[in-house]
Amino acid sequence: MKTIALTNQKGGVGKTTTTINVGAGLAKLGKKVLLVDLDPQANLTYSLRMHSHRLDKTIYHALRGIAKAEEVIINHNGFDFMPSSLELSGAELELASEPARERLLKDVIDQIKEEDYDYVLIDCPPNLGLLTLNAFTAVNDIFIVLQSEYLALHGLSKLLDLVKVVNQRLNSDLRVGGIICTLYDGRKNLNKEVVGHIKDYFGPKVFNTIIRDNVALAEAPSHHKTIFEYDGNSHGAKDYLALAKEIKNGH
Ligand SMILES: Nc1ncnc2c1ncn2[C@@H]1O[C@H](COP(=O)(O)OP(=O)(O)OP(=O)(O)O)[C@@H](O)[C@H]1O
Ligand SMILES: [Mg+2]
Repeated sequence: MKTIALTNQKGGVGKTTTTINVGAGLAKLGKKVLLVDLDPQANLTYSLRMHSHRLDKTIYHALRGIAKAEEVIINHNGFDFMPSSLELSGAELELASEPARERLLKDVIDQIKEEDYDYVLIDCPPNLGLLTLNAFTAVNDIFIVLQSEYLALHGLSKLLDLVKVVNQRLNSDLRVGGIICTLYDGRKNLNKEVVGHIKDYFGPKVFNTIIRDNVALAEAPSHHKTIFEYDGNSHGAKDYLALAKEIKNGH
């Protein structure tokens, strides 16, 4: 079972879109996939199911130890996910006083049987707070999601510092396993330049597949669909399937 956190403290760079569609892509390739929505905004959850459908058990309850991991899991056409809810926004404060508060997600993941999933992908919130710390403590790899825009690398040293600290103190397995460039517009010279900078900085860690800016990717969530369900012929579907193949082949 590979555990991967998709992260960047910058908002709106494509973390949630990538978690859903890489997950769905890996599922298409025959892998058993679990997604974890670790963001109080619950964008991943709302992108896959109707708002109106009330959830009484979410990742929040699992983190608090009120629900077992298996009770929280929902199936979506080929893969599973653990939903989030707004309640999680209060969790940072509530959980701050718990003993071993940075290991709560690890305890949840440890309840999942190794053989049940090939990949567990965690969608992180856009900050470096307690929830992200929990993600970094629970996984083997982080994938950093970068928008192919000006300032893509700005502020990244803070994230990399956190990886170092977690690596030394909490999780010696943690490593930066990959860099994913998203929202790429080939008509913009600046985008090409930025991807060049990212490759100079991270070298072979950067996945070859660059996710293009594609309107279908922005439309799919309002239909509660992955890109493969919404428009299997779109650039978005092609890019995310190619990325899933790269990940499956060990990058
Ligand atoms: N490749 C793409 N092409 C077009 N639109 C995209 C693409 N990737 C993401 N989007 C859209 O951009 C917005 C931000 O994407 P997303 O929610 O995945 O980012 P995020 O990093 O998870 O944001 P947050 O930090 O708020 O959690 C969304 O409206 C999404 O639908
Ligand atoms: Mg998100």
